Order: sequence, then C-alpha cells, then structure tokens
Amino acid sequence: MRQVPYYLVIGSGRIASHMLHYLNLLGIPCRQWCRKAYTIEQLDQYSQDISHTLIAISDNNISNFLENHAYLYERSICLHFSGSLVCENAYAAHPLMTFTSELYNLQTYRAMAFMTHKGTPDFSELLPGLPNKTFRISADDVALYHALCVSSGNFTVLLWNNMFQQFQEKLNIPKEAALPYLQQITKNLMNENSGAFTGPFQRNDQSTIDKNYHALKDDPYQKVYKAFMDIFNITEGSNHHDKD
Ligand SMILES: NC(=O)c1ccc[n+]([C@@H]2O[C@H](COP(=O)([O-])OP(=O)(O)OC[C@H]3O[C@@H](n4cnc5c(N)ncnc54)[C@H](OP(=O)(O)O)[C@@H]3O)[C@@H](O)[C@H]2O)c1
Repeated sequence: MRQVPYYLVIGSGRIASHMLHYLNLLGIPCRQWCRKAYTIEQLDQYSQDISHTLIAISDNNISNFLENHAYLYERSICLHFSGSLVCENAYAAHPLMTFTSELYNLQTYRAMAFMTHKGTPDFSELLPGLPNKTFRISADDVALYHALCVSSGNFTVLLWNNMFQQFQEKLNIPKEAALPYLQQITKNLMNENSGAFTGPFQRNDQSTIDKNYHALKDDPYQKVYKAFMDIFNITEGSNHHDKD
C-alpha cells in the first residue's frame, strides 16, 4: 500500500462527484471508477496502486460490492459514506452534509464534519489530507444518529417544498416571496439565543392552532401538523405549562 495517499472513488452519483471535486480542490491525487464508464478489469487495474478506496455507492449495495471485489480491501483502506451502515470490510466516514447535483466550493467542503465509528483508525488515517473536523459515534448509536439527520434535514425539505408548491398553485405567491422567511429561520436556528421557535405553539394560542389544523383538511400534511401538535404537547408543551 502506498504511503502518500492516492484515492480511488467508486461511483458516479452525488457523493462520488462531490468527493472527487473536493479531492481535486485540495490537490490530492484521485481516480474514479464507475460501472457505467469502466470495465471490471479496469477496477482491478486502477486499484493496484491506490492507498484508499472510497465506496461512494448506494447503501444497499456497499457490502455486496466489497464481497465481489475483495481485492479492494486487501489492497487499500476502504471507506463508505453511509450514515447508517456498519460494514465489515469498510470503515464509515459520514459527512454531515447534504449533496445535490450542484458542486460546492472548498470552504463549504472544509466546513463539514465527518462522523466515524468508535474503535476505528484516526480520521487522519481514514481520509489523509482532509482538514475536516471529525466526531466519533459508537456503532450502536449509528441508527439513532442517522434517524436524527434524516428527520431534521430531509423532512424539513419536504415541508418547505410543500409550502413553495401550494403557495404557487393555490395562492399565486412565488417561491421568492418565502425565501427571506426561510433565510431568517435558518439564521435564528444557528443563533442559539434568538428563540427561533415562534408562532401559535410558542404563544400557546389554541384557537389559531385549531384554525390551522382545519384549514389543512383534505391535505396529506394535516397528519404532519397533528403529529407536531402531539410532539409539542409531549415535549415543549409540558415545559410551557410549567411556566404558566
Ligand atoms: N447525497 C447525500 O446528500 C449524501 C449525504 C451523506 C452520505 N451519503 C451517502 O453517499 C452514498 C451514495 O449516495 P449518493 O447520494 O451519492 O447516491 P446516488 O447519487 O444515488 O449515486 C449512487 C451511485 O451508486 C452507484 N451504484 C449503485 N449500486 C452499484 C453497484 N452495485 N455497483 C457499482 N455502482 C453502484 C450508482 O451507479 P449507477 O449510476 O451506474 O446506477 C451511482 O453512481 C450513500 O452511502 C449515502 O448514504 C449521501
């Protein structure tokens, strides 16, 4: 195995493209292999002199892919980027970030934290040359960690896209009109002391909450509203009533 890191990135999806771009921006040598553009013989050939293999493919296929190409972990340190997978032949390094088809700048990549698992080698061995912050979680906590990422990051995207769409279609309000609102909520959330949670729940305004709930009849998101009402009553609501 080489002493100077040389990465092989497997895949051509979102994270593969971002990781290749990040390594290029850092000036770290890397090479790509994906099943659409290269042969299996080329995978064998490309992996001859690499130090690290980044398996940037769908979670479900990572273990099988490694089983079918065992020489990858025999020749190099193998990593995957899944936030929820514990895998025998590859270490995990989950970037706490969302990746779309649009590439980011160096500053954005440097700012993201990577989660590795307790008991695995140091980050400097797993991803040498990357200046990112890193945190360790135990393999037992991986499912919880990922559930929290998905419910905060991915579910809020569903909520916002639903708002943008219904504003446009039912109320003729363009998406741009809602962007300063989204921006301020994000800023308030990032500023711990600002009290980001406002609105009828925070004010304990039950009649407005009822009106909101009924206005969503025939809308699948009424169930989501109800779920948040229930969660609020279980968690924040009890704190709120304590203060009354
Ligand atoms: N996107 C994110 O925001 C994000 C964030 C953190 C972590 N991750 C992790 O990153 C990994 C990849 O996610 P992604 O978003 O990049 O997915 P993606 O855009 O859907 O790309 C998946 C890639 O996997 C390849 N692939 C699937 N099965 C394969 C197989 N059996 N052999 C070879 N290649 C195979 C696909 O190849 P084809 O195009 O040929 O089908 C494609 O290049 C996952 O572990 C995910 O959990 C993603």
